[in-house]
Amino acid sequence: MKVHFIGAGPGAPDLLTLRGRDLIAACPVCLYAGSLVPEAVLAHCPPGARVVNTAPMDLDGIMAEIDAAREAGQDVARLHSGDLSVWSAMGEQLRRLDAMGIAYTVTPGVPSFAAAAAALGAELTLPGLAQSVVLTRTPGRASAMPPGERLEAFAATGATLALHLSIGRLAEIVATLVPHYGADCPAAIVHRASWPDERVVRAPLAALAEAAGAEITRTALILVGPALAREGFDESRLYAADYDRRYRPQSAESPWAEWTHGDD
Ligand SMILES: C[S@@+](CC[C@H](N)C(=O)[O-])C[C@H]1O[C@@H](n2cnc3c(N)ncnc32)[C@H](O)[C@@H]1O
Repeated sequence: MKVHFIGAGPGAPDLLTLRGRDLIAACPVCLYAGSLVPEAVLAHCPPGARVVNTAPMDLDGIMAEIDAAREAGQDVARLHSGDLSVWSAMGEQLRRLDAMGIAYTVTPGVPSFAAAAAALGAELTLPGLAQSVVLTRTPGRASAMPPGERLEAFAATGATLALHLSIGRLAEIVATLVPHYGADCPAAIVHRASWPDERVVRAPLAALAEAAGAEITRTALILVGPALAREGFDESRLYAADYDRRYRPQSAESPWAEWTHGDD
């Protein structure tokens, strides 16, 4: 018996991986984390599967479901939205499974920041503008931030910021970021990226809260950084006509001249 942790993606059912879909179809038990996992993903469960929404449960209750599946010799598909590597609560479940001696696998999913970047048609790392993306959040009722992870500290780097779980603090975030990025820095909010009711709000940083209005209260990402402008950046050297590289040696003297595509 195994528990298969599966990233269910940002919302669009066809952004589930093929591996995730096949695992869901093979498991007689499916535990899914609330409304961010779409119904169409649950439709891959086999007929008669036990399908449980874990949103109203506590950790002990979830582990009791898994333990019951172990008693019955049934594999479990454990679905969380987006990818499992960020804000999935997978870590605490894996720790319990290790203690219980239950085996598991982990199948990644499309994270919401990638779906939001796709909605914006944006590469978040543009040469000369930003070469790092900070996936972060602001403190919540149940989650304090570690002392070193202050928004000001991340902002001081000028990297592209992707703020999760923070739409309720938009005005405060803008006030914190403007001194670092400037009032005119491009910024955006993507609400329910990849869902049919996806909404994109773009505005200069200082005007973002006003542009967003009061309707977006959850399931949104705030993206900030010069890379969102999609202009004013250098072309990458990778595709420059004169760039000497393994797959495109520029002369017989090139250190790459003797390589062929089959070598690596
Ligand atoms: C509990 S975290 C889950 C993150 C998820 N594991 C991921 O890979 O993105 C929930 C937060 O992720 C963001 N989020 C999740 N799905 C989203 C979507 N489709 N569009 C925009 N933001 C989303 C929002 O900031 C939301 O508050």
